[in-house]
Amino acid sequence: MSKSQAYIDANQQKFLDELFELLRIPSVSTDSTKKGEIQKAANFLLNQLESLNLNRVELFETPGNPIVYGEHCPHNDKPTVLIYGHYDVQPSDPDDLWDTPAFEPTVKDGNIYARGASDDKGQAYTHVKALESFVKSGEDIPVNVKIILEGEEEIGSPNLVPFINQHKDMLTCDMVLISDTAMFGKDQPSITYGLRGLAYMEVEVVGPNRDLHSGVYGGAVENPLNVLCEMIAKMKDENGVIQIPGFYDKVIPLTKADREASAALPFDEEAYKKSLDIEAVHGEKGYTTLERASARPTLDVNGIWGGYTGEGAKTVLPSKANAKISMRLVPDQDPKEIAKLFTEYFHSIAPDTVKVKVTEHHGGHASITNLDFYGLKAAAKAFEDVFEKEVLFSREGGSIPIVADFKKILGVESILMGFGLTSDAIHSPNEKFSIQDFHRGIKTSARFFELLPEYVD
Ligand code: BES
Ligand code: ZN
Repeated sequence: MSKSQAYIDANQQKFLDELFELLRIPSVSTDSTKKGEIQKAANFLLNQLESLNLNRVELFETPGNPIVYGEHCPHNDKPTVLIYGHYDVQPSDPDDLWDTPAFEPTVKDGNIYARGASDDKGQAYTHVKALESFVKSGEDIPVNVKIILEGEEEIGSPNLVPFINQHKDMLTCDMVLISDTAMFGKDQPSITYGLRGLAYMEVEVVGPNRDLHSGVYGGAVENPLNVLCEMIAKMKDENGVIQIPGFYDKVIPLTKADREASAALPFDEEAYKKSLDIEAVHGEKGYTTLERASARPTLDVNGIWGGYTGEGAKTVLPSKANAKISMRLVPDQDPKEIAKLFTEYFHSIAPDTVKVKVTEHHGGHASITNLDFYGLKAAAKAFEDVFEKEVLFSREGGSIPIVADFKKILGVESILMGFGLTSDAIHSPNEKFSIQDFHRGIKTSARFFELLPEYVD
């Protein structure tokens, strides 16, 4: 065993204690009152990188949350890996559904329960500790590394793309390494080679100029909540096909090989249903559950509000109705174009009894990693060495829009080396991350750096 791997085994508890410190910081990027916590999380990581004697460590301020950056590139003849992760987290609400407090990490059944445990503090931290394992055990880091840790991923990375554009030279690399996805299953390492994109919209339907008595006016004046529901119902047909004209124009259809690869994955639909307490799955006709959840576009209402939702019954005809609607996208759909098509369609189906307003939130492109890329082969071997199990390659339905931007701006592939599980409850109450996978993640990352030079094409 190499010195770095031995160091990782010997320091499991120390790594865990440090991760807990990071998890105690409620660095919620959607919450503007948490700016101080964001700063604390960024400083924590900055101190961590500073303790590694890298060539360069710097905190870059942005118009939003700071970017923590480090680099160590002493080798002329070795590849350069740019590690990316995010230290911001989703809000913890609804807090009453957490069994233990979201920002008080708790160990139960071999898992760490805390907001950000899996998405993404725990996963991103594996790489920081992998670097430490070389430095502190007296080994050279075997490749050139750059590391970028951002604090705005959960709000669509508004300042990261400008940052990458401004620092193209500094960020030159041969590949990006990201751990912010899930493995195919427990003890089943996998590399994610596809992610979906996103277009996120907010709509408002306005009827009368004030809330009305539903007995006095009901039946004679349009109800915007009824209208909104009818409009949402027109977004898909009975086969789950999205009705926005032009929506599928740029979708690259799944090939026979894509479908065979997906069908060959060891997916257990019964266990899937059971884990969600549902009797039946649902989705676009003609596609499997795995395809629907990773390789086909979607449209979903994320939230809907308006009218009276308090205790008891208030008879009211609301003046306004609102909804947040997201669309997951696949290659080659363009989020801006899709937002425009959505807006046009939404206006076109609105009756003249209401006024509608559509606004666009953040979005991003889908991505696909080239399976022939040598970096993926090294990553697969690293997983296999640590997990002692053959790696699977799969697509996932979540979005990390910066992957497509890295490709576009820096011209490089991203290796999605996820250590989480789909059942980690990311963005939900009781988010968790397996302690064993945190440990194996650090080992896999370090092993990857050891192996990579041998795999260069
Ligand atoms: N880590 C997730 C993305 C993810 C989760 C990818 C599971 C694959 C599997 C990331 O932090 C996230 O939640 N991204 C957002 C997108 C962003 C633009 C707000 C998402 O997917 O909703
Ligand atoms: Zn994430």
